[in-house]
Parts: sequence; structure tokens; C-alpha cells
Amino acid sequence: MGSIATVRLAESDLFEEVVLIDLVEGLAAGIALDLWHDASIARFSTRIIGSEDMAALAGVDYVIVTAGKPRTPGMTRTDLTSANAAVVGPVCEQIARHAPRCVIVVVTNPLEEMTHLAQMRSGFPSERVLGMAGVLDSARFCSLVGLTGLALPSEVEAFALGSHGPEMVIPLSQARIKGRPLTDLITGDQLDAIVERTRDSGAEVVSLLKTGSAYFAPGHCAALMVTAMASHSGQVLACAVDPKGSYGIRDTRVGVPVRLGPAGLESVVELPLEPGELTALRESADRLRERINEVA
Ligand code: 2OP
Repeated sequence: MGSIATVRLAESDLFEEVVLIDLVEGLAAGIALDLWHDASIARFSTRIIGSEDMAALAGVDYVIVTAGKPRTPGMTRTDLTSANAAVVGPVCEQIARHAPRCVIVVVTNPLEEMTHLAQMRSGFPSERVLGMAGVLDSARFCSLVGLTGLALPSEVEAFALGSHGPEMVIPLSQARIKGRPLTDLITGDQLDAIVERTRDSGAEVVSLLKTGSAYFAPGHCAALMVTAMASHSGQVLACAVDPKGSYGIRDTRVGVPVRLGPAGLESVVELPLEPGELTALRESADRLRERINEVA
């Protein structure tokens, strides 16, 4: 997943350098060299460095954390909590040591718990520790709607909020196809099936791959969050943050629409959710708070 994010970041040509780090000797350096060989035809000039040493992070502005185990078939993301907490905690302490002013984008599962842990162990303000899940789940929903043939995936606009898991909330009142309310075009069982498949997409990929989880789409989504910050695009993205009172939610990590800036979270965007959607989002936040408190 880190190598996919690296490709996307390199090709954005927004950065002087992208550093890929992996503990396996030579792995990051080999991937970095392979990716650099592509620079002449992919037409980017971003330097790509690979290392086993976290000190290579010195002075970086953004760090995407993918370290940890992926799910295997039949596992829930929550099953990864203790194993991945043991990885993410020390990694974030090292990040704080070598890149004390960076913004951390967490991808490791269980996403909301690991994002909270990353903030605790880095000591960074919550605005500089973001969870990548909603961008992925929103992309999945839009792409699955695209399979209906009603529109190109890029012509579908929707947010997946709440948790990166069973408490995911897709506020259909906010979904559009070519600017029209999605529920004018897709209703009933077909729509329910798309929502359900979106929620289960991670597990669906894991069950097909058998030895790992998705990496192309998650890697691209993590890179999208970083390029949105670096370019100050103003794009509204669903990210796991502490809403600090927005949507009536605080003291947790939950997927909400946000605007990002060069220094991380700039603002939470309050959409006019329907009462049932807002209730579901708040209930999702409550479940996440319970799980986060267990990790903390
Ligand atoms: C997924 O849903 C890895 O959590 C990520 O595929």
C-alpha cells in the first residue's frame, strides 16, 4: 500500500522527495529505485528514497502510516487491535522524534483506534493526526454506483462517514449523480445492496486475495489526503478526526466531511444531514469512543 501511495505522490509532482520506509532490508530501497526508473515515462521529477531507517523521515511534512498487519479472511478489523497497536505506537514515537512538525495520515486498522493511538504516542495535536478511511469508503460507494451504468464513477458524489466498519454511515440525502439526487435514480433493494457492498468491500477484497488486504485504492486515497493538504485544494473529504463538537460529537475519532490545509485539519464541514442520518452518525461515534477507550 505504501508503494501505491508513493507512486501517486511522486506523479503529483507536488513534492521534492518521497521517502518509503520498510523494516525489511533492501525492500524500500528496491521499490524506490524501481519507481524512479519509471520517472522518464511517467514524467515526474519527485525524488524517491527507500530506507529501513526512520531517521530518513527527518524534516518531512507528511507521513502516511501503513505499518502493521492486514486482515486475513474471516478477521474483523478489530481483531488486529493489539497486534497493530504494538506497531503503530512505537512508529509514531519515532515519527515525532524525526519529523516533529509533520501531519500523520493513519491507514493501519482498526483505523479509528490506531488514529487515536497515533495521536497519543506522537504527542501531536489532533488536527495533525488524521485517519484515512472515509475517502476510501466514499470512493468505493461511488465506484460501485458506477457499475449500474447510470453514470461514470467520477460523476457520482457521496460521503461515507462514521466508522470504517459496520457502523459506516452513507447519508444518501447528500448523494448526487451528475448533480441530481441519487435517490431519484436508484432506490430500494438495489441501493441497499450498494450500501451493504460498500460497507463490506474491504472484507470482500480480503476474501478474494486471501493473503492480504486492498492496497491500490487505499494507497491512492491516502495520497489524495496528502496532496489535498500540500496543494490546499479545499476539497471536502471524509476523514477520521475528532469533530470537537461538530455534529454534536466530541472526544472520539469518527469519519466526517472535512477541509484539509497544509497543517492538517482546517475545518469540519457540517452537511444538512437528515435526522436519521445524524442519529446514526452520533451512534457510530459512540461505538467508536467505546472501542478507542479500550485501546487507550
Ligand atoms: C480496506 O477497507 C485496508 O481497511 C482497508 O480495504
